Amino acid sequence: MSNRTFTMIKPDAMKNGHAGAILDKIIKGGFRIVALKQTHLSEVKAGQFYEVHKERPFYGELVEFMSSGVIIAAILEKENAVADFRTLIGATDPAKADEGTIRKLFATSVGENAVHGSDSEENAKIEGDFFFSGLEQF
Ligand code: CMP
Repeated sequence: MSNRTFTMIKPDAMKNGHAGAILDKIIKGGFRIVALKQTHLSEVKAGQFYEVHKERPFYGELVEFMSSGVIIAAILEKENAVADFRTLIGATDPAKADEGTIRKLFATSVGENAVHGSDSEENAKIEGDFFFSGLEQF
């Protein structure tokens, strides 16, 4: 059971003014914020973060979108964090996401889907370490 996951509030949700409401859902969902920052990914950095998707047809679009504006990156803690956070955010495609989930409420499309959530404990660690030094993770 993993205790930590990693999330980003993506440029669409930041531009649409949903960051506060999304953080409220996360906190009320029982997650502790371990580390949090607002930043702006360059195309190079976004490309590195999503390197696992390099061969996918949407990779270029994804990198362009993720570097199109500021984001909030955060490490979250809760018992069973990875799975519970994926339940809270809903399906990748907001059209398929359950009622009340963050993507159902705030996302616009499969590409511009408001938030990222790690898909495994191993990736949560890799992704958290991409943005935060060890000293920032307490
Ligand atoms: P995320 O969970 O951040 O990880 C991979 C991202 O790729 C995903 O969210 C979506 O934003 C994006 N993505 C997945 N499928 C598609 C698609 N068919 N078209 C565009 N973007 C996609």
